[in-house]
Amino acid sequence: MTIPAYRLRPPTRSDVQPYGKFLSDKNISIWLEDACQKPLSETAIEYFILRSGWCHWSIEYDGQFCGLTGLDDPDLSRGQARFFIVLGMTDLWGQGMGTAVTQQVLDYGFKVLQLRKIVSDYLEENIASERVHKKSGFTVDGRLRDDSFRNNRWIDRVIVSILRDEFLSIHS
Ligand SMILES: CC(C)(COP(=O)(O)OP(=O)(O)OC[C@H]1O[C@@H](n2cnc3c(N)ncnc32)[C@H](O)[C@@H]1OP(=O)(O)O)[C@@H](O)C(=O)NCCC(=O)NCCS
Repeated sequence: MTIPAYRLRPPTRSDVQPYGKFLSDKNISIWLEDACQKPLSETAIEYFILRSGWCHWSIEYDGQFCGLTGLDDPDLSRGQARFFIVLGMTDLWGQGMGTAVTQQVLDYGFKVLQLRKIVSDYLEENIASERVHKKSGFTVDGRLRDDSFRNNRWIDRVIVSILRDEFLSIHS
């Protein structure tokens, strides 16, 4: 499998509109946080995209904005941050890009930022996200039962994490 050639760059204001379009696609937003389950204003999207210059990147493919990734919720006294990824061009799914981006962000977090632990989570039915986290070396810590309401029922959220030593033992 050839992974589509992507690059990570700082987010810009021009990403706000295409990201809003991605969020209006139920196949994407259903897997995101509860706040994304109803239409968001352009201001709210702009705040989300531009609020943090720390470890937020836009994913670009073929010169086009195609998603967001990065590390959030830093708790640097504990050497910890939270990973996130949204690949909004659905025709790019299933070609290894999500895993490659995840591993690049983890690489930066552990090798450059010297983080001790990176946490993440996904809804239990999000098989693509489960696969990406598993392939990248995350371990399941537990689950928040009946955490989010989707498709008229409550579903669990799976909590995962990876420690620096675990990552380095695979990707030294
Ligand atoms: C999750 C996401 C980043 C994955 O990106 P991607 O480029 O498709 O990921 P990859 O191709 O590296 O890996 C996905 C794997 O899941 C598999 N997969 C995807 N949907 C599947 C399904 N419904 N059933 C079984 N396998 C599935 C793919 O075939 C691929 O398989 P592989 O591990 O054998 O190669 C992308 O789907 C996305 O952004 N989704 C919407 C937002 C989201 O869910 N973000 C994460 C929130 S926690």
